[in-house]
Amino acid sequence: MPSKNMTLFYSPASPFARKVIVLLQETGQLPTVELFDVKLSPVSPSGEVIARNPSGKIPALELANGETLHDSRVILDYLDHQHSGEPLIPREGPSRWQRLTLASLADAILDAGVLIRYETFLRPEELHWQTWLGAQQEKIERALAEFETQADTGQLQRFDIASIGIACALGYLDFRQPQLGWRERYARLASWYADASQRESMLNSQPPA
Ligand code: BEZ
Repeated sequence: MPSKNMTLFYSPASPFARKVIVLLQETGQLPTVELFDVKLSPVSPSGEVIARNPSGKIPALELANGETLHDSRVILDYLDHQHSGEPLIPREGPSRWQRLTLASLADAILDAGVLIRYETFLRPEELHWQTWLGAQQEKIERALAEFETQADTGQLQRFDIASIGIACALGYLDFRQPQLGWRERYARLASWYADASQRESMLNSQPPA
């Protein structure tokens, strides 16, 4: 049994943390990481996290030497250098930039989805800015349309950094926007996700019910 020499500050509801937990499982590194569940919101940050990441954001990964890495992209890159299997982030060449750009578009869904969540859940209803909410939702829709093309052209076959990001983005939409009905508009993406969401790493990292 490998010793736990890192600590991941995370929340089970955070899709950014979920990407890290999925990659840890896909690369066999989960047993080396202590999971530290923090309670926080944008208006009530966690002292434990702030002490390690001045932005107060999760995920944050404390290493054995006491240094802390953040944000999720940096942590994913670091962890992908710590295992001996085939890298999930191509190390060089055009595929590196292509896969990281797709992963970044998946993060754009997460950014927009989380902003919508904060606006609708934390802000008083009379202050909700509908134009801004609509613009965030349109960003999500444009990203989904691009992922539909990627699924259709076989670009999501390998469960790498891009596929992990897209799967976690779709999982977050199902979690926070179950009414969105994205599967009706993006059938090939839905078919891809039906399989991807059944991977052990995805099943073991589902957001709370
Ligand atoms: C959420 O509850 O939707 C959430 C929690 C942590 C980070 C981002 C989103």
